[in-house]
Amino acid sequence: MKNNSHFSNLIKKIETKQAVVGVVGLGYVGLPLAAGFADVGFSVVGIELDPRKVSKLNQGISYIPDVPTEQIAPLVENGTFKATINPEVLRNIDIVIICVPTPLDEAGDPDMTSIKGATDMIAKYLHTSQLVCLESTTYPGTVTDLILPKLQTRGMEVGKDFFLAFSPERIDPNNANFRVENTPKVVGGVTQYCTKAAEAIYKEMVVKVVTVSSPATAEMVKIFENTFRAINIGLANEMAIMCQILGLDIWEIIDAADTKPFGFMPFYPGPGIGGHCIPVDPSYLSWKMRSMNYRTRFIELATDINSSMPKYVYRLAVNTLNKADKVIHKSKVLLLGMAYKRDIDDLRESPALDVFELLHEAGADVSYHDSFVPEFNYGKKVIHSVELTKDVLTEADLVIILTDHSTVDYEVVCQHARSLLDTRNATKKIKNPSAHIVKL
Ligand SMILES: NC(=O)c1ccc[n+]([C@@H]2O[C@H](COP(=O)([O-])OP(=O)(O)OC[C@H]3O[C@@H](n4cnc5c(N)ncnc54)[C@H](O)[C@@H]3O)[C@@H](O)[C@H]2O)c1
Repeated sequence: MKNNSHFSNLIKKIETKQAVVGVVGLGYVGLPLAAGFADVGFSVVGIELDPRKVSKLNQGISYIPDVPTEQIAPLVENGTFKATINPEVLRNIDIVIICVPTPLDEAGDPDMTSIKGATDMIAKYLHTSQLVCLESTTYPGTVTDLILPKLQTRGMEVGKDFFLAFSPERIDPNNANFRVENTPKVVGGVTQYCTKAAEAIYKEMVVKVVTVSSPATAEMVKIFENTFRAINIGLANEMAIMCQILGLDIWEIIDAADTKPFGFMPFYPGPGIGGHCIPVDPSYLSWKMRSMNYRTRFIELATDINSSMPKYVYRLAVNTLNKADKVIHKSKVLLLGMAYKRDIDDLRESPALDVFELLHEAGADVSYHDSFVPEFNYGKKVIHSVELTKDVLTEADLVIILTDHSTVDYEVVCQHARSLLDTRNATKKIKNPSAHIVKL
């Protein structure tokens, strides 16, 4: 590697903690990252479109469960972290990390609006010795085909004047064991200097940095990880359907298979997949491969099975009611857990919303309890969580456990519900339940 003064300047600033880190998009990914860099002594500025989030953060209040207010408040107070909607701060930022959403559009294709918007904003203030790193999950080729051409319009050369890399975010909301700091980070730069610059900054905060040969490799690593999960969950879901037909208990089978010390990793069935990642990310790869005339068959099959699970749960609910001489129309159905996974408040792509809609459309009298989700919008209506009392449980013709939050006492649920459909094996340890229990 030839001597590069812009690179040396940046590395010196990183090593002396003089580098200013900017995080674009302060959501589930951006805020923990910003707090992490501030915690290890960097001056961090968050650039966020939503002024309500900016105002809350600047008062030292967090809105992301994984980043407690007690962590943010002192960082705001001592001036190491601040948030703004003003992109002009980018003039004084040395490292910009992009953490904006990458959803699907109405046609199910990648919606790159936020990445394009963030890149245009950064391009306007791009300066020498600056590192730009994308963390949003996306299809392989985004950094080199979409971001790089936008940044190179100002006459600066990548790898010489400024640096560009991709480093996938692996955060797992509400995972108490693995947080940003102790989860290894994969990094791939456009040039060797780009990779080294990105490695240098992440090394300051994260336990281990794994460098790969290009941004596209790093982009594919992330999509592979999440496609691996989507496909294995799809397999567990189809196994659950087959077990139902065979009269076998899928949960017992997974537990027994999990005693094999090698070659097996447990994945569990459920009412479907949710969140911003697992249901969405594989479609980014499918879209990319379609444009190259290749059909991603595993992804299509897993998507098909996983997205059919809410309907499957609905049919189980109808059958369970039928067996108790009840019809779905006007039956009282209580749903437990609306968030897409345990102990978080995230409703994005939650399969519980689909189950709610199917039951509601069939004329059931549906209510829900979720201590993490006090309300949600259903069309023009706002649906509120009900308090989980003995009466509410007893009055329901059917209770369906959709997400197994640890805030629910399943012993009490099993004692007072008349009929229970458990899609998460939350009632596994309950001995002598009074309720009639049907498991997925
Ligand atoms: N949530 C997760 O568990 C997770 C895990 C790994 C990777 N990811 C990926 O990380 C990315 C971000 O996800 P998230 O869950 O943090 O999303 P989020 O919706 O929680 O946060 C994104 C934030 O970016 C802001 N924003 C959008 N466009 C902007 C712009 N041009 N400038 C400034 N701010 C802007 C939004 O207002 C929002 O606050 C996605 O690509 C996602 O797939 C998410």
